[in-house]
Amino acid sequence: MSANKKLLFLPGDGIGPEVMGQVRRVIDWMDNRRHVSFDVAEDLVGGAAIDATGTSLDDATLDKAMNVDAVLLGAVGGPKWDNVARDIRPEAGLLKLRKEMDLFANLRPATVLPALAEASSLKEELVSGLDILILRELTSGVYFGEPRGITENADGSAEALDSQRYTSAEIERIVRVGFEMAGKRGKRLHSVEKANVMETGVLWRRIATEVGKDYPDIELQHMYADNCAMQLVRAPKQFDVIVTDNLFGDVLSDCAAMLTGSLGMLPSASLGGADESGRRKALYEPVHGSAPDIAGEDKANPLATLQSFAMMLRYSFDDIENAELIEQAVKNVLDQGLRTGDIMQDGKTLVSCTRMGEAVCAELDKLAA
Ligand code: IPM
Ligand code: MG
Repeated sequence: MSANKKLLFLPGDGIGPEVMGQVRRVIDWMDNRRHVSFDVAEDLVGGAAIDATGTSLDDATLDKAMNVDAVLLGAVGGPKWDNVARDIRPEAGLLKLRKEMDLFANLRPATVLPALAEASSLKEELVSGLDILILRELTSGVYFGEPRGITENADGSAEALDSQRYTSAEIERIVRVGFEMAGKRGKRLHSVEKANVMETGVLWRRIATEVGKDYPDIELQHMYADNCAMQLVRAPKQFDVIVTDNLFGDVLSDCAAMLTGSLGMLPSASLGGADESGRRKALYEPVHGSAPDIAGEDKANPLATLQSFAMMLRYSFDDIENAELIEQAVKNVLDQGLRTGDIMQDGKTLVSCTRMGEAVCAELDKLAA
């Protein structure tokens, strides 16, 4: 197969480069053993980009991101850049990528792997076998709504304003993805908002109900966001797919992440709309942050990034076979008792980021033999 799959790697800050290094290892393995090749370019984002170019995402990098098949991002941010101007802060680069690439559909699966069920903050029976998908709207809502800003009043007081704004088209396209995803899974969709308080919630509920008429085989349930947070920690297995807005999705996905025992395990995909040829712009990234406290020490957990790469194979390249191979290899190394520090448990074997990546490749060797 020719190297026609164009990827852009944006390792970013903190542990980003280390975990991405393990994806390189798996990519080499795929090239050697599966004859699946990728054309990988690499560039800077976040604090690393601020240091080199003065901004967290420069136009040339954005241009590259717009012209590849998929982007894989490590992590952005760190205390070093706490005091840079707001519009160039590391997170701004990530938000700009999401917005400019129009990556409106953010998929955050929260699955509990058998080996880690006891690492959850909830009782094992509540979470074992958990498999939910949080679908977060990613390019609108209060994250981007105008007007916004802080006004300094003449009397010395100040006032801050954020705007939660959604158009019916923005709601419809994300809710539709929700129904499509539910159709491929457990056929249940929870649409989450606060229609009891917010106008955007009222519109969200109305559109979800209308779109639902096109999907009679999917069971649609509306739920208030606060109740959803409560239900996630009370009885998470009641959920299959949750579709929600940008801010509620940010909060609820962290909550769901904790159910799984480790943020270091969770991948994510951010997808745009399909073009004429059915291709979607896409960015994949682990849900965890840049963990500056352990950066450069070879202690990071690369499994979320490896699973993000598996999601890329599945959603951008329709390569289910190799995606499942990687996911199985991840399960196997955990079953062998290998753990990075973030998921360490009594009686298990503590390994480095590098060693974990090597172990995944060794498992891949066995699985593909
Ligand atoms: C996330 C993060 C980002 C967000 C930050 C880093 C801007 O929390 O991806 O969930 O709030 O969207
Ligand atoms: Mg978040």
